[in-house]
Amino acid sequence: MNAIEVKNVNKLFKKPYDKTLKGRLISMMRKEKINEQYQALDDVTFSVEKGEGYAIIGKNGAGKSTLFKVISGVIYPDKGSVELNGTIMPLIELSAGLSRDLSGIENIKLNCAIYGLKKDKIEEILPKIVEFAELEDYIDVPIKFYSSGMKARLGFSIAVHIETDIILVDEVLAVGDKDFKEKCYNKMIELKKEGKTIVIVSHSLRPLKKICDRALVLKRGKVQAIGEINEMISMYEKM
Ligand SMILES: Nc1ncnc2c1ncn2[C@@H]1O[C@H](COP(=O)(O)OP(=O)(O)OP(=O)(O)O)[C@@H](O)[C@H]1O
Ligand SMILES: [Mg+2]
Repeated sequence: MNAIEVKNVNKLFKKPYDKTLKGRLISMMRKEKINEQYQALDDVTFSVEKGEGYAIIGKNGAGKSTLFKVISGVIYPDKGSVELNGTIMPLIELSAGLSRDLSGIENIKLNCAIYGLKKDKIEEILPKIVEFAELEDYIDVPIKFYSSGMKARLGFSIAVHIETDIILVDEVLAVGDKDFKEKCYNKMIELKKEGKTIVIVSHSLRPLKKICDRALVLKRGKVQAIGEINEMISMYEKM
Protein backbone atom coordinates (compact mmCIF):
# COMPACT_ATOMS: atom_id res chain seq x y z
CA MET A 1 0.00 0.00 0.00
CA ASN A 2 1.18 3.52 -0.71
CA ALA A 3 1.71 5.89 2.19
CA ILE A 4 1.70 8.97 -0.04
CA GLU A 5 0.06 9.36 -3.43
CA VAL A 6 0.68 12.65 -5.24
CA LYS A 7 -1.11 13.10 -8.56
CA ASN A 8 -0.60 15.87 -11.14
CA VAL A 9 0.07 18.56 -8.53
CA ASN A 10 0.46 22.14 -9.73
CA LYS A 11 1.22 25.13 -7.56
CA LEU A 12 1.39 28.67 -8.83
CA PHE A 13 2.73 31.58 -6.84
CA LYS A 14 2.28 35.23 -7.65
CA LYS A 15 5.69 36.83 -7.75
CA PRO A 16 5.80 38.74 -4.47
CA TYR A 17 6.06 42.52 -4.81
CA ASP A 18 6.02 45.54 -2.57
CA LYS A 19 2.39 46.64 -2.29
CA THR A 20 3.08 50.16 -0.97
CA LEU A 21 2.63 53.17 -3.24
CA LYS A 22 6.39 53.62 -3.38
CA GLY A 23 6.86 49.93 -4.25
CA ARG A 24 4.24 50.14 -7.01
CA LEU A 25 5.86 53.25 -8.50
CA ILE A 26 9.25 51.55 -8.50
CA SER A 27 7.71 48.51 -10.21
CA MET A 28 6.11 50.79 -12.82
CA MET A 29 9.41 52.55 -13.44
CA ARG A 30 11.13 49.21 -13.88
CA LYS A 31 8.25 48.14 -16.14
CA GLU A 32 7.77 45.03 -14.02
CA LYS A 33 4.65 42.99 -14.48
CA ILE A 34 3.00 42.96 -11.09
CA ASN A 35 0.82 39.93 -11.62
CA GLU A 36 3.46 37.62 -12.99
CA GLN A 37 3.04 34.06 -11.82
CA TYR A 38 5.59 31.47 -11.02
CA GLN A 39 4.94 27.76 -11.30
CA ALA A 40 6.62 26.28 -8.25
CA LEU A 41 5.23 22.78 -8.94
CA ASP A 42 4.47 21.59 -12.45
CA ASP A 43 2.43 18.41 -12.85
CA VAL A 44 4.19 16.49 -10.07
CA THR A 45 3.17 12.84 -9.78
CA PHE A 46 4.79 10.18 -7.58
CA SER A 47 4.02 7.76 -4.79
CA VAL A 48 5.86 6.62 -1.69
CA GLU A 49 5.36 3.09 -0.45
CA LYS A 50 4.56 2.34 3.16
CA GLY A 51 7.81 1.80 5.08
CA GLU A 52 9.91 3.33 2.35
CA GLY A 53 12.75 5.84 2.74
CA TYR A 54 12.30 8.43 -0.02
CA ALA A 55 14.47 11.43 -0.87
CA ILE A 56 13.48 14.57 -2.74
CA ILE A 57 16.56 16.15 -4.28
CA GLY A 58 16.96 19.33 -6.29
CA LYS A 59 18.67 22.72 -6.39
CA ASN A 60 17.66 25.75 -4.32
CA GLY A 61 14.25 26.94 -5.45
CA ALA A 62 13.39 23.66 -7.21
CA GLY A 63 10.14 23.39 -5.24
CA LYS A 64 11.05 20.82 -2.57
CA SER A 65 9.70 22.72 0.44
CA THR A 66 6.63 23.74 -1.55
CA LEU A 67 6.01 20.07 -2.31
CA PHE A 68 6.34 19.21 1.39
CA LYS A 69 3.89 21.97 2.29
CA VAL A 70 1.38 20.62 -0.21
CA ILE A 71 1.81 17.06 1.09
CA SER A 72 1.31 18.11 4.69
CA GLY A 73 -1.66 20.34 3.89
CA VAL A 74 -0.02 23.63 4.91
CA ILE A 75 -0.88 24.98 1.46
CA TYR A 76 -3.30 23.71 -1.19
CA PRO A 77 -2.31 22.73 -4.71
CA ASP A 78 -3.97 24.67 -7.56
CA LYS A 79 -4.53 21.39 -9.36
CA GLY A 80 -4.03 17.73 -8.58
CA SER A 81 -4.42 15.69 -5.44
CA VAL A 82 -2.57 14.32 -2.45
CA GLU A 83 -3.65 11.16 -0.69
CA LEU A 84 -2.17 10.02 2.61
CA ASN A 85 -2.52 6.67 4.31
CA GLY A 86 -1.63 7.24 7.94
CA THR A 87 -0.80 10.07 10.29
CA ILE A 88 1.86 12.54 9.21
CA MET A 89 4.47 14.68 10.97
CA PRO A 90 5.91 17.46 8.85
CA LEU A 91 9.23 18.93 9.93
CA ILE A 92 9.48 21.70 7.38
CA GLU A 93 10.87 24.95 8.63
CA LEU A 94 12.90 25.07 11.78
CA SER A 95 10.47 26.99 13.87
CA ALA A 96 7.26 25.67 12.30
CA GLY A 97 5.25 23.94 14.99
CA LEU A 98 7.21 25.65 17.73
CA SER A 99 5.95 28.74 19.56
CA ARG A 100 8.63 31.31 20.27
CA ASP A 101 7.31 32.48 23.61
CA LEU A 102 6.79 29.03 25.07
CA SER A 103 9.53 27.09 26.77
CA GLY A 104 10.92 23.86 25.40
CA ILE A 105 8.82 21.76 27.71
CA GLU A 106 5.65 23.76 26.93
CA ASN A 107 6.29 23.30 23.22
CA ILE A 108 6.64 19.56 23.69
CA LYS A 109 3.35 19.39 25.59
CA LEU A 110 1.58 21.59 23.04
CA ASN A 111 2.71 19.42 20.12
CA CYS A 112 1.71 16.24 21.93
CA ALA A 113 -1.71 17.74 22.58
CA ILE A 114 -2.12 18.79 18.94
CA TYR A 115 -1.45 15.19 17.94
CA GLY A 116 -4.01 13.98 20.46
CA LEU A 117 -1.62 12.05 22.68
CA LYS A 118 -3.03 10.84 26.00
CA LYS A 119 -1.65 12.09 29.30
CA ASP A 120 0.16 8.81 30.13
CA LYS A 121 1.78 8.73 26.71
CA ILE A 122 2.93 12.34 27.07
CA GLU A 123 4.44 11.58 30.46
CA GLU A 124 6.20 8.57 28.98
CA ILE A 125 7.79 10.31 25.99
CA LEU A 126 8.48 13.73 27.53
CA PRO A 127 11.77 12.74 29.21
CA LYS A 128 12.78 10.81 26.08
CA ILE A 129 12.26 13.90 23.92
CA VAL A 130 14.35 16.06 26.26
CA GLU A 131 17.08 13.44 26.50
CA PHE A 132 17.32 12.86 22.76
CA ALA A 133 17.47 16.62 22.11
CA GLU A 134 20.14 16.97 24.82
CA LEU A 135 18.45 20.13 26.03
CA GLU A 136 18.11 19.34 29.74
CA ASP A 137 19.63 22.67 30.79
CA TYR A 138 17.46 24.79 28.52
CA ILE A 139 14.15 23.04 28.64
CA ASP A 140 12.42 25.72 30.76
CA VAL A 141 13.72 28.61 28.67
CA PRO A 142 11.46 30.23 26.00
CA ILE A 143 12.66 28.97 22.66
CA LYS A 144 13.15 32.48 21.27
CA PHE A 145 16.42 32.28 23.19
CA TYR A 146 17.45 29.00 21.53
CA SER A 147 20.10 28.83 18.81
CA SER A 148 19.04 27.47 15.40
CA GLY A 149 20.66 24.15 16.21
CA MET A 150 18.83 23.94 19.54
CA LYS A 151 15.48 24.56 17.81
CA ALA A 152 16.28 21.90 15.25
CA ARG A 153 17.13 19.45 18.04
CA LEU A 154 13.86 20.11 19.80
CA GLY A 155 11.79 19.96 16.59
CA PHE A 156 13.39 16.74 15.39
CA SER A 157 13.14 15.08 18.77
CA ILE A 158 9.45 15.93 19.12
CA ALA A 159 8.78 14.75 15.57
CA VAL A 160 10.36 11.33 15.95
CA HIS A 161 8.91 10.57 19.38
CA ILE A 162 5.28 11.35 18.55
CA GLU A 163 5.29 8.21 16.37
CA THR A 164 3.27 9.15 13.34
CA ASP A 165 3.21 6.75 10.37
CA ILE A 166 4.85 9.21 7.98
CA ILE A 167 7.62 11.71 8.72
CA LEU A 168 8.68 14.55 6.42
CA VAL A 169 12.11 15.99 7.17
CA ASP A 170 13.08 19.13 5.25
CA GLU A 171 16.71 20.10 5.69
CA VAL A 172 16.22 20.70 9.42
CA LEU A 173 19.40 18.84 10.20
CA ALA A 174 21.49 21.33 8.22
CA VAL A 175 22.06 23.40 11.36
CA GLY A 176 22.73 20.47 13.67
CA ASP A 177 26.30 19.71 14.69
CA LYS A 178 28.09 16.59 13.46
CA ASP A 179 27.25 14.37 16.44
CA PHE A 180 23.62 15.33 16.47
CA LYS A 181 23.23 14.77 12.72
CA GLU A 182 24.73 11.32 13.10
CA LYS A 183 22.28 10.56 15.88
CA CYS A 184 19.34 11.75 13.75
CA TYR A 185 20.38 9.67 10.75
CA ASN A 186 20.60 6.61 12.98
CA LYS A 187 17.21 7.41 14.47
CA MET A 188 15.67 7.62 10.99
CA ILE A 189 17.18 4.26 10.05
CA GLU A 190 15.69 2.81 13.24
CA LEU A 191 12.25 4.30 12.48
CA LYS A 192 12.37 2.84 9.01
CA LYS A 193 13.08 -0.58 10.48
CA GLU A 194 9.96 -0.11 12.59
CA GLY A 195 7.99 0.32 9.37
CA LYS A 196 7.60 4.10 9.33
CA THR A 197 7.66 6.01 6.06
CA ILE A 198 10.32 8.70 5.82
CA VAL A 199 10.52 11.38 3.16
CA ILE A 200 13.56 13.59 3.39
CA VAL A 201 14.89 16.70 1.64
CA SER A 202 18.59 17.30 2.06
CA HIS A 203 21.53 18.84 0.27
CA SER A 204 23.84 16.41 2.10
CA LEU A 205 23.54 13.54 -0.31
CA ARG A 206 25.73 10.89 1.26
CA PRO A 207 23.56 10.21 4.34
CA LEU A 208 20.53 9.85 2.07
CA LYS A 209 22.04 6.68 0.65
CA LYS A 210 21.81 5.06 4.07
CA ILE A 211 18.24 6.11 4.79
CA CYS A 212 16.51 6.07 1.42
CA ASP A 213 15.53 3.39 -1.07
CA ARG A 214 14.41 5.72 -3.83
CA ALA A 215 14.62 9.37 -4.79
CA LEU A 216 12.79 11.93 -6.87
CA VAL A 217 14.85 14.57 -8.65
CA LEU A 218 12.98 17.86 -8.92
CA LYS A 219 14.07 20.53 -11.38
CA ARG A 220 12.27 23.90 -11.54
CA GLY A 221 9.09 22.36 -10.22
CA LYS A 222 9.12 19.40 -12.59
CA VAL A 223 9.86 15.75 -11.90
CA GLN A 224 13.14 15.11 -13.68
CA ALA A 225 13.50 11.46 -12.69
CA ILE A 226 12.42 8.89 -10.10
CA GLY A 227 14.47 5.84 -9.28
CA GLU A 228 16.85 3.94 -7.05
CA ILE A 229 18.68 6.25 -4.64
CA ASN A 230 22.29 5.67 -5.77
CA GLU A 231 21.36 6.06 -9.42
CA MET A 232 19.44 9.27 -8.76
CA ILE A 233 22.27 10.78 -6.72
CA SER A 234 24.88 10.11 -9.39
CA MET A 235 22.52 11.47 -12.03
CA TYR A 236 21.91 14.61 -9.96
CA GLU A 237 25.63 15.11 -9.38
CA LYS A 238 26.19 15.14 -13.14
CA MET A 239 23.36 17.62 -13.77
N1 LIG B 1 4.79 31.78 -0.48
C1 LIG B 1 5.43 31.97 -1.63
N2 LIG B 1 5.09 33.01 -2.45
C2 LIG B 1 5.73 33.21 -3.62
N3 LIG B 1 6.70 32.41 -4.08
C3 LIG B 1 7.08 31.36 -3.33
C4 LIG B 1 6.47 31.09 -2.06
N4 LIG B 1 7.05 29.98 -1.53
C5 LIG B 1 7.97 29.57 -2.43
N5 LIG B 1 7.98 30.40 -3.51
C6 LIG B 1 8.83 30.24 -4.71
O1 LIG B 1 8.71 28.90 -5.17
C7 LIG B 1 9.96 28.40 -5.61
C8 LIG B 1 10.28 27.09 -4.91
O2 LIG B 1 10.58 27.35 -3.55
P1 LIG B 1 10.89 26.20 -2.49
O3 LIG B 1 11.05 26.85 -1.18
O4 LIG B 1 9.89 25.14 -2.64
O5 LIG B 1 12.32 25.67 -3.02
P2 LIG B 1 13.26 24.54 -2.38
O6 LIG B 1 13.44 23.50 -3.43
O7 LIG B 1 12.75 24.13 -1.07
O8 LIG B 1 14.64 25.32 -2.25
P3 LIG B 1 15.77 25.22 -1.10
O9 LIG B 1 16.71 24.11 -1.50
O10 LIG B 1 16.48 26.53 -1.21
O11 LIG B 1 15.12 25.02 0.22
C9 LIG B 1 10.97 29.51 -5.39
O12 LIG B 1 11.16 30.20 -6.60
C10 LIG B 1 10.31 30.43 -4.38
O13 LIG B 1 10.69 31.76 -4.56
MG1 LIG C 1 13.43 24.34 0.89
